[in-house]
Amino acid sequence: MSPLPAKQGEGQGGGVVRVSRLHSFIQRVQAQLVCLDEAARLIEDVPGIVLELGLGNGRTYDHLREILPGRRIYVFDREIASHPDSHPDADHAILGDFRETIPRAARRFPGKVALIHGDIGSGNKEATLALARTLAPMLPPLLAPGALVVSDQKLEVPGTTPVTLPGGLQEGRYYMVRNG
Ligand SMILES: C[S@@+](CC[C@H](N)C(=O)[O-])C[C@H]1O[C@@H](n2cnc3c(N)ncnc32)[C@H](O)[C@@H]1O
Repeated sequence: MSPLPAKQGEGQGGGVVRVSRLHSFIQRVQAQLVCLDEAARLIEDVPGIVLELGLGNGRTYDHLREILPGRRIYVFDREIASHPDSHPDADHAILGDFRETIPRAARRFPGKVALIHGDIGSGNKEATLALARTLAPMLPPLLAPGALVVSDQKLEVPGTTPVTLPGGLQEGRYYMVRNG
């Protein structure tokens, strides 16, 4: 495998290098894996449920199930389009637009969430940034003390502080914040 560049878009000496979409994908999923594993460790002493925002194919949901076997995990998306091995059961699938389902979840699970994983990016960068700006202020009522928000987008969640990324990941590769 050709080596991954240190950071997408930057070569040695600060020059710009083209990073293939394959490299970019691998960097993203490596960062997801490392951050989710670290999050599972960091919430060991934080009781509560887990929310997966963005079921998609169900890869990260499947991983969360594996690393957090004792936790109730609720998944959010417009529809269930995951791999059949990663379908959530009906009681744990919350379908609809995040902008409607998350405020409803905040009324249903106030202060009960130990971990939110947001994997909300789409091919439309502007729409993704706008969604992140809209969702971030909706999250605090859900969070238990010490809860984590891990996400593919920067979420300015009021009342949280940034967590240093694990595994030597560069800032901005993924995002982790802790409530409080
Ligand atoms: C990057 S994919 C998630 C990938 C998934 N975590 C995986 O590992 O397979 C993002 C998902 O977010 C969902 N999504 C994006 N914007 C949404 C919105 N406003 N409301 C509900 N779902 C949304 C999309 O339907 C898509 O399935």
